[in-house]
Amino acid sequence: MGRLYSLIPVEVEPVETRYRRISTKIPVPESIPVLERLRKYESRSMGGQPPVVWDRAEGVSVYDAYGNMWLDFSSGVLVANAGHGNKPAVEGIRKELEKPLLHNYCFPSEIRSLAVEKLANLSPKPLDKVFLLTTGAEAVECAIKLARTWGGKKGKKTIVSFEGSFHGRTLGAQMAGGIPGQKEWADFAGLSVIHVPFPGEPRCPDRSFALFESTLEKSGVSTGEVCAVISETYQGVSAALMPRDYAVSLRAWCDRHGALLIFDEIQAGFGRTGRMFGFMHYGIIPDLFCLGKGISGSLPLSAVVGRPEIMDQYGPGEMTSTHTGNPLSCAAFLGSIREIEENGLVENARAMGRVFKEELERICGGCPLVQFLCGEGLVWGIQIGRKGTDAPDPDTAFRLVERCMQKGLLFFSPVGIGGGTVKVNPPLSITREAVLEGCGVIGEVLGEVCR
Ligand SMILES: Cc1ncc(COP(=O)(O)O)c(C=O)c1O
Repeated sequence: MGRLYSLIPVEVEPVETRYRRISTKIPVPESIPVLERLRKYESRSMGGQPPVVWDRAEGVSVYDAYGNMWLDFSSGVLVANAGHGNKPAVEGIRKELEKPLLHNYCFPSEIRSLAVEKLANLSPKPLDKVFLLTTGAEAVECAIKLARTWGGKKGKKTIVSFEGSFHGRTLGAQMAGGIPGQKEWADFAGLSVIHVPFPGEPRCPDRSFALFESTLEKSGVSTGEVCAVISETYQGVSAALMPRDYAVSLRAWCDRHGALLIFDEIQAGFGRTGRMFGFMHYGIIPDLFCLGKGISGSLPLSAVVGRPEIMDQYGPGEMTSTHTGNPLSCAAFLGSIREIEENGLVENARAMGRVFKEELERICGGCPLVQFLCGEGLVWGIQIGRKGTDAPDPDTAFRLVERCMQKGLLFFSPVGIGGGTVKVNPPLSITREAVLEGCGVIGEVLGEVCR
């Protein structure tokens, strides 16, 4: 069960640097009516984030309306890759607003044609076809449906997914996910999914592909039944990638057994790991991949990209969505990708990732409450729990996020199995100076909570 932050304002040390300003009690007393209104009218599930009332966000900064500024290590849940409110996206959105063209459904529009062309051009061959949707979970559901239709023709229905995976919160996407606590609420409703161990992090010491094959065998599923294997490119719960040879073996296994390989790039896409798409670390090409979050850096947009023969299985009008390729979302995507490409933000993610690695390893190494650290580029997971054990420590992770918030460094709440992972994922435009400042705050707070 998640937890709520206290809404009682507390006196905190004032902070005034280039990236952080805290000049009030936290939470801000004047913001309490807003926070209470949200608690009163939204479902309880919405109440899990730090009580900072966002008023404006620009670059790597989030501002409230009361004079405070946070250095954002959340990217608003890995969305603002190109920086909050980046200019090309804002200008593109403004153009569509001024026309105005606010909606187009599946009717043709130039902006949607440019968006799908750009996505196809960014993707490796032969992944030439694109279908736009609104949320990440929808893109995952769509990829699963495409795979089941593809495999169904040969009697293949089973999806292989990974333990610890997260693919979204609609029914099918959540059931494809492999986080135990999120699977009690509903049945698979006919969706046959087998979960195998994910080989990327220290809790799974066997990193060999043989484990994939032996787990499948033990489950009683024959290789001929599998229509697809779906995996996040790195697992969101820990920020761990799979070993490269494992990924190469997985690609070969899928080819051998006529199964599609689907990568969920919803977190990893658009430079987050220091490559345009995370699967580029593995040197393999999936059959389908799902995009969301950083695709537009802001407005709701997601996509499935894949091989034409899979993407074109349905006839005209048979795979559509009311808000597919909304003009404002397409403009946000075209603006954000321009910002990413013209400012070398993928390369910056790679370079700043090296700074994070060095700093976080140094800071976390001496803390008995950090079990391990995983990550690549600008996504890192600090696993909080007693060293030498597997049990997460969600209370300490929560306290860490809360204390950082009080010092002007913003994270989203801890994630992961047992809620012990603090995710570090700033916008890709972050500078070395800001990385060092943020890591300094993490170090101070770890020093406090590890005492
Ligand atoms: C890897 C991954 N897949 C899918 C999703 C679901 O995306 P959305 O929340 O846009 O439905 C998420 C969201 O956190 C994600 O991290």
